[in-house]
Amino acid sequence: MRISVLGLGYIGLPTAAMFANRGYQVVGFDIDENKVDNVNKGIFDVEEPGLLAFLRDAFNTGNLSAGNMLEPCDVFIICVPTPIDDVNKPDLSYVESAGDQITNVLQRGNLVVLESTVPPGTTLNVLSPILEKSGLTAGKDFDLCHCPERVMPGKILKELTENHRIVGGIDMKSCERGRELYSVFVEGDIYITDPTTAEFSKLAENTYRDVNIALANEFAKLCESYGIDVWKMRVLANNHPRVDILKPGPGVGGHCLPVDPWFLVNGDSGLIPKAREINEGMIRRVEKLIKANTRGNGVVAVLGTAYKANTEDARNSPADKLVEYLSDFEVRLHDPYVKKDNGDLEDTVRNADTVVLMVDHRDYIDMVPADILELMKGNVVIDTRNYFDATAWRDAGARYILLGACETALN
Ligand SMILES: NC(=O)c1ccc[n+]([C@@H]2O[C@H](COP(=O)([O-])OP(=O)(O)OC[C@H]3O[C@@H](n4cnc5c(N)ncnc54)[C@H](O)[C@@H]3O)[C@@H](O)[C@H]2O)c1
Repeated sequence: MRISVLGLGYIGLPTAAMFANRGYQVVGFDIDENKVDNVNKGIFDVEEPGLLAFLRDAFNTGNLSAGNMLEPCDVFIICVPTPIDDVNKPDLSYVESAGDQITNVLQRGNLVVLESTVPPGTTLNVLSPILEKSGLTAGKDFDLCHCPERVMPGKILKELTENHRIVGGIDMKSCERGRELYSVFVEGDIYITDPTTAEFSKLAENTYRDVNIALANEFAKLCESYGIDVWKMRVLANNHPRVDILKPGPGVGGHCLPVDPWFLVNGDSGLIPKAREINEGMIRRVEKLIKANTRGNGVVAVLGTAYKANTEDARNSPADKLVEYLSDFEVRLHDPYVKKDNGDLEDTVRNADTVVLMVDHRDYIDMVPADILELMKGNVVIDTRNYFDATAWRDAGARYILLGACETALN
């Protein structure tokens, strides 16, 4: 079986390597010539532990190659981006162009899998008609399914194999072929359904998280206004057997949570857009805290520019927005995982008036408060993740401010 993977990004490349390492011939296809060249040279730009070795193993098998011209094969897997535009409408142009490319080489007996996250109905109403321009009929001449990806950056290798998967086929034969394909490396269960249910369930998963984070953030704002600590309140409330309040924070980022909920809604009203608004608004809260506690033109050291802990993925990260809002300050960025920001931590905090912890990377837990404060000019430490030991920082002389427990800090 020869497999083509369209899109060699965070998802497509590890997926291609999964099949290659299990003995299948895989050709990756990408419109980015650099990515194609690098795969063919065995050069991989990834930070996740274990993933680099896994990709190199795939390269060394001789089963993995890349190209920028799609050729006939048995299975096509689409892993291209699915962003939103300026008014939060889905941009399906990458999926459409991937479909067009496949249409040129599609043959009887092929299986096409759409892995990209898409609005409900895309497989049936957008991709299938494009593929049928080949003159072949979906379900009769070729099989088609949607198999959404659920991995988390930083744990891609583990989650690709261990997570359960959903295969939404246009008919039973497509479901069975999809299931057979993924059982090559998936150790979790594989559930079959129709494509639209599969599309919706992926969006429901991410929307569920976004809405629940918004609730935690709303609680954080309310607790601040009552002068209490959301983090302490949350521990108590979560003693209830049916309550699981998530952690508040400076907002959500990445490629999925800020984008995918918009695939389910049309317009700005209702719970889902409100949750988006709450989560996007949290960075303004952090901005306010910084401005209330740092004099203008002061130095602000921002720790953590990735969108979440222990990953180098900085797409849509809250820190990016924060920098925009702090144009009156000298802002220094640090992140041990994000290449453009992985300079020296001591240089970042030296002479800083304020240090803001944006991401709870494991590397930051070892920071010694006295050493950091000695380097700083000021003593303000703002923790947006409840990650630092407040007592240790206060004992060392910091003006330690915790998001969600900081009403007095704003007065
Ligand atoms: N990154 C994640 O954690 C994650 C998790 C679950 C689902 N997803 C979904 O998976 C899909 C891919 O995401 P990603 O993070 O891998 O994106 P990415 O941006 O890292 O990679 C996409 C790749 O597709 C290439 N591309 C664009 N148009 C193409 C075309 N017509 N033909 C071939 N290649 C093309 C791009 O050059 C890029 O290299 C998205 O729909 C995303 O929502 C991502």
